[in-house]
Amino acid sequence: MSSPMDLYEQLTAQGLAVRHIKAQKGNKAEVESAVQLLLRMKEDYKLLTGQDYQAGRPPTHTEDDDAGPAEDDEDDQVNPWNVSTSSAKGVDYDKLIVRFGSCKIEQELVDRIARVTGKTPHHFLRRGIFFSHRDMHQILDAYESRKSFYLYTGRGPSSGAMHVGHLIPFLFTKWLQDVFDVPLVVQMTDDEKYLWKDLSLEDCHRYTLENARDIIACGFDPDKTFIFSDLDYMGASPSFYRNVVKVQKHVTFNQVKGIFGFTDSDCIGKISFPAIQAAPSFSNSFPQIFGDRNDVQCLIPCAIDQDPYFRMTRDVAPRIGYLKPALLHSTFFPALQGAQTKMSASDANSSIFLTDTAKQIKNKVNKHAFSGGKDTVEEHRKLGGNPDVDVSFMYLTFFLEDDEQLEKIRQDYRSGALLTGELKKCLIETLQPMIAAHQERRKLVTDETVRQFMTPRKLLFNC
Ligand code: TRP
Repeated sequence: MSSPMDLYEQLTAQGLAVRHIKAQKGNKAEVESAVQLLLRMKEDYKLLTGQDYQAGRPPTHTEDDDAGPAEDDEDDQVNPWNVSTSSAKGVDYDKLIVRFGSCKIEQELVDRIARVTGKTPHHFLRRGIFFSHRDMHQILDAYESRKSFYLYTGRGPSSGAMHVGHLIPFLFTKWLQDVFDVPLVVQMTDDEKYLWKDLSLEDCHRYTLENARDIIACGFDPDKTFIFSDLDYMGASPSFYRNVVKVQKHVTFNQVKGIFGFTDSDCIGKISFPAIQAAPSFSNSFPQIFGDRNDVQCLIPCAIDQDPYFRMTRDVAPRIGYLKPALLHSTFFPALQGAQTKMSASDANSSIFLTDTAKQIKNKVNKHAFSGGKDTVEEHRKLGGNPDVDVSFMYLTFFLEDDEQLEKIRQDYRSGALLTGELKKCLIETLQPMIAAHQERRKLVTDETVRQFMTPRKLLFNC
């Protein structure tokens, strides 16, 4: 990595280069790319030094190592199958926005959502948990002129057990359904899990039905929600399959290799699967809901690791005569062990499961939640803890709704007034009733309820 001084000098040179190109009235693309590079370098400089770059002012030395060098983003790996980083604070999401070419959810957009819906924005929006988007302003423009849209999200059912991290997109989608009053389709990619994991088709389909119960327990409106298994719906819906084939014809092997990193030894099922995840983005895949309309705009709330599928979808959409879906991206939910990785459903101690008892929750948090506190009470009181790397604190940002209480916890932890044990207790007391309530709601979901949600049918939809 370059030193602050190196970077400062490079920046100064790049600043001059931009001025030079502008003065020469260079072509637009050239100016643009030089400016982009300058901006990226400024970001790197700020990350490295904790200071804004100012021409003529070389970096000053700082004692504060905590604010110090951020890890190289080469270490952040984000794709649908692998999420890892070497930084305890987790993935650098601002850099991800630049790399993926999406847009940051700025305060202005959050305010606009509040204005348009007349509702307080969900705390996932207020706290930057949903942090990036594509075309959300377009959805709001249309909505303001009384043009409705629909929501699409999904889940790969790789096991019967879901953990709290899996709920994030669904909790948020439920809120979107409520405040915008729009229909929702939920794709259960049992086919995807069969292709990628060592599971039988029957297991994958069974997990679809199990997971559907947890999804339904989030409170979706049965009159406005359709949940479908790919294994069932692909064969049952000619309209859906037609869209899959259209996408398949317009994406080359080369393109998916570039996007997903497939190799010659991947089975052909994997190679064509992205077309199946793309198809629900087009409204005429669901004639029972939208008739033959292909112009109902789609909004997809998902974790950022799903973006490659939808970059591909947005790329083909205009070429097959369809609208591009809009997107809202969330950050990852950290494993108990630390923000370096996403939680894994196969490691029981890496997360809190929706089936955990109050006692299991308590033990897991106390034993496994990575702490940003100091080793001894004396040290902690004197120096304070670091909420930015503390997993219990991160979990509270996801699940503690009260902004003031959360801010007080952050300050008290940082100052040392709040000890790690006390912070963990707060989290335990937040999670226990939340999980218990989920379990109660799930119990009320009968086979019949599942069948109802999963039957292709007309939904309430005011276009
Ligand atoms: N591929 C996703 C997974 O493995 C499931 C999925 C399908 C999805 N369609 C989606 C997720 C749309 C978000 C939005 O979990």
